[in-house]
Amino acid sequence: MSTDAIVLLKDDHKEILKAFKDFENAGENATATKGKLVDKIIELLTVHTYIENEVMYPRVRDLLPDLEDDIDESYEEHHVADLLVVELAAMDPDAERFDAKTTVLIENVRHHIEEEEQEWFPQVREGLGRKQLQEIGAEMLQAKGRAPRRPSQPSALKKTIDAIIS
Ligand SMILES: [Fe+2]
Ligand SMILES: [Fe+2]
Repeated sequence: MSTDAIVLLKDDHKEILKAFKDFENAGENATATKGKLVDKIIELLTVHTYIENEVMYPRVRDLLPDLEDDIDESYEEHHVADLLVVELAAMDPDAERFDAKTTVLIENVRHHIEEEEQEWFPQVREGLGRKQLQEIGAEMLQAKGRAPRRPSQPSALKKTIDAIIS
């Protein structure tokens, strides 16, 4: 099994985008289905964000300092998605804004995934060798095992508050 970091992240993206499509195709009144799909989206995004924040971004930043600006932008985009995820995780699927909030989350994350795949991954692949990408991939697989599955309320709330006051 390949542990190439970019292959692993693209597989994650595929699964995330599939869950987005399922949500969009669920139909107006499928409240229970959409609630379950959003639970799945939250889990996929929480794990994926964790392995990128904890492994991929810091490793690439060390190895390819020229990509620092892109990485900062990515952290900020993750942060915006995190805030929406925290709110959605606390929301009832039949709440008035549940679908709207999910739609905004989907739009944001799709844009972010597109930038990673179209612009960022090619630069990373060019800058790093196969061996380095395999090592980062192996490290991300390990991180997946210890990653949180849901936003942890106290720290997520603290992050929200920190973001507002800083
Ligand atoms: Fe990302
Ligand atoms: Fe990603």
